[in-house]
Amino acid sequence: MTNDNPGQGWPSILSGSSPGSAHKTQPQILIPSERITARILELGAEISRDYHGRPLRLIGVLKGAWIFLADLIRAIDLEEVTVDFLGVATYGEAKQTSGEVRLTKDLDHSIEGVEVLLVEDILDTGLTFDFLLNVLRNRKPKSLRAVTLLDKASRRIRPVHADYVGFTIPDEFVVGFGLDFAQNFRQLPYIAVLR
Ligand code: IMP
Repeated sequence: MTNDNPGQGWPSILSGSSPGSAHKTQPQILIPSERITARILELGAEISRDYHGRPLRLIGVLKGAWIFLADLIRAIDLEEVTVDFLGVATYGEAKQTSGEVRLTKDLDHSIEGVEVLLVEDILDTGLTFDFLLNVLRNRKPKSLRAVTLLDKASRRIRPVHADYVGFTIPDEFVVGFGLDFAQNFRQLPYIAVLR
């Protein structure tokens, strides 16, 4: 997802600093890349078992989920797996997601009658997730489940959950493995906390 107001959205890392100065902040590793790789292999095996013999459509949420999706799809052992992407952005309010979510990119293909697995980078308050599940449900997929790499379960406002969760993490702002701060840090091969 993209935050329209980078620099206004997030706690301690931002106070008194501009987005550009984020480069000066040192990310501290929370989940090393080996653990992420191992967990994605487990998730892929679980998804492959659950969808055995059924065609599956992965829907990645841009921009945060594409690196996770790229690894996950290669860990899924199914004959028919297809991919599509949604783009979303929030209208910024300060310290948390405002709840006003909009699509910045729609799906390229219909999902009517399709078995869909939504692929998210992080589940935080659940507002974005709730919005996306409603958008997708309205398009009448045959089934709809969700996988998230990270889950900040303690921050939930909406009662949503992912069917597959990589890691439950504490209430910290994290970057890396596709997750950004002001569009930076996506390239880190690990999940890190910005302090
Ligand atoms: P939610 O609507 O509060 O669940 O927010 C989910 C979205 O907020 C994610 O898709 C991310 O784009 C963003 N987000 C929430 N927490 C973090 C974080 O710790 N790092 C980077 N992005 C985050």
